[in-house]
Amino acid sequence: MKKTVLVTGGCGYIGSHTVVDLINHGSNVIIVDNLANSSIEVLNRIKIITGVMPLFYKLDILDREGLEDVFANNKIDAVIHFAAFKAVGESVEKPLDYYYNNISGSIILFQIMQKYNVKNIVFSSSSTVYGNPKTVPVDESFPTSATNPYGWSKLITEQILRDLHVADNSFTVAILRYFNPVGAHKSGILGEDPKGIPNNLMPYISQVAIGTREYVNVFGNDYDTYDGTGVRDYIHVLDLSNGHILALDYLYKNQGQVLITNLGTGRGYSVIDVIKSYSRACGRELLYKICPRRAGDVAVSYANCDHAYKTIGFKAQYNLDDMCNDSWKWQSNNPNGYEK
Ligand code: NAD
Ligand code: UD1
Repeated sequence: MKKTVLVTGGCGYIGSHTVVDLINHGSNVIIVDNLANSSIEVLNRIKIITGVMPLFYKLDILDREGLEDVFANNKIDAVIHFAAFKAVGESVEKPLDYYYNNISGSIILFQIMQKYNVKNIVFSSSSTVYGNPKTVPVDESFPTSATNPYGWSKLITEQILRDLHVADNSFTVAILRYFNPVGAHKSGILGEDPKGIPNNLMPYISQVAIGTREYVNVFGNDYDTYDGTGVRDYIHVLDLSNGHILALDYLYKNQGQVLITNLGTGRGYSVIDVIKSYSRACGRELLYKICPRRAGDVAVSYANCDHAYKTIGFKAQYNLDDMCNDSWKWQSNNPNGYEK
């Protein structure tokens, strides 16, 4: 029977791509998003790609009554919980906003799920929970830690889900630790549209490529890596959304389990590798300047993806050139993001 999946934060970057995949895989989708970091235009783009306009509630997950109404009025089988604030620097400046939105919002959601007997949950966690890993590749048994309120909000929500499962083992939980999501939908009409100056590398490079910014600031070239710049595991957002489809399928078939898994490619690329690949994608040499290291950055992080393969059959399909080509297609078609 067709399953109904509630997607919190479904108008956001990763959520919107996952909604497309869910619809294409035959699920009914309900989106709850307060548009704090996204645009209503995303819904039209989803409709263009899939032919389906998902049911949408413009709602803050902190609005308990509003969220309860969604559960009371719909028969929901599973929840994918993306809704959160995600800017590390901002989380240091506004810890209470981050803890309230990311942790209190999650608690309210889980309480309502329990009340309405909706016990399948996929949660967006992050490789940030590994802190500064001692070695690479990073696997799920590595110790976890956090260095900022955003990271803590992810770790604490992971712990809440684990405790919830201990108390009520009919909860089936997938905690997905994403490495560095980049890229955009192949159509070029769905992608990442950050507000203000991008914090992350790929959207920043995209803005250099489109001419909004002059050059890329490379945060340090004196790391112990092959070219001195930071190395990360960039994963195409389409691979990531597929990881959610596989995780959901696993939950349906393995009721009462807790799955904690990395989603990455298992390969690391340096900042210079990404700039070079993007330069090939957009057809011109992008300028960059070497700057001091960014506080809190680690030299190298990439995933061991064996667990994701063994449990949910996940294996990333796209390489760095695909990620840059698709980012550029989105950016060049939509120089101002979702704004007209
Ligand atoms: P995003 O900001 O594009 O999407 C999040 C969405 O949630 C936005 O549409 C926003 O409006 C919505 N939202 C936020 N707070 C809400 C609330 N209280 N009520 C309702 N809606 C709310 O971010 P994203 O990149 O798509 O990330 C999705 C999830 O994945 C987040 O939980 C993030 O922490 C996690 N994550 C992201 C990355 C990354 O690099 N993008 C990496 C690891 C983990
Ligand atoms: C960031 C978040 C992390 C989150 C991860 C998920 C920070 C400090 N950390 O990690 O919590 O889990 O995204 O995607 O925001 N770089 C530049 N110039 C730039 C931007 C970045 O050289 O303008 C470098 C960084 O030093 C790093 C690499 O590019 O080596 C990737 O940076 P970024 O895209 O911000 O991701 P992370 O730092 O891995």
